[in-house]
Amino acid sequence: MALLYAEQVEYMDLDEMQETHDEEIAILNEVDKLATYYMMDKTESKLAALEAKLDEYLAHVKVHFANEERLMNKYDFPAYEMHKMAHDIFLMDISIAMKQWKHTGDIDKVIRFIRNSPEWIVMHINTVDAPTSVYLSRKMAEEAKKDQG
Ligand SMILES: [Fe+2]
Ligand SMILES: [Fe+2]
Repeated sequence: MALLYAEQVEYMDLDEMQETHDEEIAILNEVDKLATYYMMDKTESKLAALEAKLDEYLAHVKVHFANEERLMNKYDFPAYEMHKMAHDIFLMDISIAMKQWKHTGDIDKVIRFIRNSPEWIVMHINTVDAPTSVYLSRKMAEEAKKDQG
């Protein structure tokens, strides 16, 4: 069983947003799987695999959010501030959990954060990203039309 299924989140009008979400859900599920492996067998190698995947996940989230913000800026999305603030709060929360882990070596808090995160992710994608992607894909289509003459 996966932590989060792609079907739980709305399909994006904009392909690049959809691809990013698919990739990120896959990484999140790998984190969850590696966390389970580590819980069953607390060895250095299991821990290293989990830590590497957590770092990959955080890096992916950062690029994901930054790219949405770049597109919103480029196409003057009216609710930019609200959307960016939602990203900032999530990033701050996950960064705190990651920092605490690196500081204390206690990985349980990060795992708990990760396992509670699908609720936020589904809510964010369905209520914030979905309307953003509708707006962006419309703007991009208008732009393409203009370019054609
Ligand atoms: Fe997104
Ligand atoms: Fe977003």
